[in-house]
Amino acid sequence: MKPDDRLIVALDLPSVEDAESLITTLGPAVVSYKIGYQLAPLGGFELARLLKGAGKNVFLDLKYHDIGATVEKGVQSVRQFGANLLTVHSTPTVVRAAVAGRGDDATLKILAVTVLTDQSPADVARGFNLSADEIDLPKIVLDRARMAIDEGADGVVASAMEAAALRDALGPAPLIVTPGVRPAGADIGDQKRVATPADALRAGASHLVVGRPITAASDPAAAAGAILGEMRDE
Ligand code: C5P
Repeated sequence: MKPDDRLIVALDLPSVEDAESLITTLGPAVVSYKIGYQLAPLGGFELARLLKGAGKNVFLDLKYHDIGATVEKGVQSVRQFGANLLTVHSTPTVVRAAVAGRGDDATLKILAVTVLTDQSPADVARGFNLSADEIDLPKIVLDRARMAIDEGADGVVASAMEAAALRDALGPAPLIVTPGVRPAGADIGDQKRVATPADALRAGASHLVVGRPITAASDPAAAAGAILGEMRDE
């Protein structure tokens, strides 16, 4: 994979007009975009179709979590417009249904979300009627990732801190898509577990998701160029 194919810019913006303006500013250098909850209800799906028509890759970060029949149909709908990546939660029934919905589509890859990065051990413990010190988050992340890959998922979403252990456990094939990437010296915002682009790639990430370091930069094209430069040097 070429370094430029590994960068995904998160379109976490308030309107399709803002997103289109950023996409124009970034030009041909950026080939993959992520559309999530903020933009999807505001015309984000139509934008995803336009991006596909323009030859870009589209990552729909919809984190599906529902009964199997609903997930399977939801994935089939996403398939119809040629999305490249889709997130689902790493519950066995959900992953299995998503894989069934993907079928033999070679374009669409299913990514499993293991433990959301804003969850503390105490948050996870409450869901299982356990105490926080009984929760081994890194082990839960690994177990859920292994389960998702066993069920046929194409990869996982993971911070750079988790990527190395996941790469060891999962082997070379699964995608590891890593958010929380910050160029050296950048504002980390609300991200808690950040890494530089080079560190994330060294840890085994196949793709990097970058939002605010590009979208909120005074010169987004220069910011994307610097990140791509760091990725190409790695
Ligand atoms: O602006 P920033 O670079 O922090 O954006 C990261 C993107 O990755 C956001 O769209 C965020 O929702 C997403 N993400 C994340 N952590 C996860 C999963 C997704 O930051 N565990």
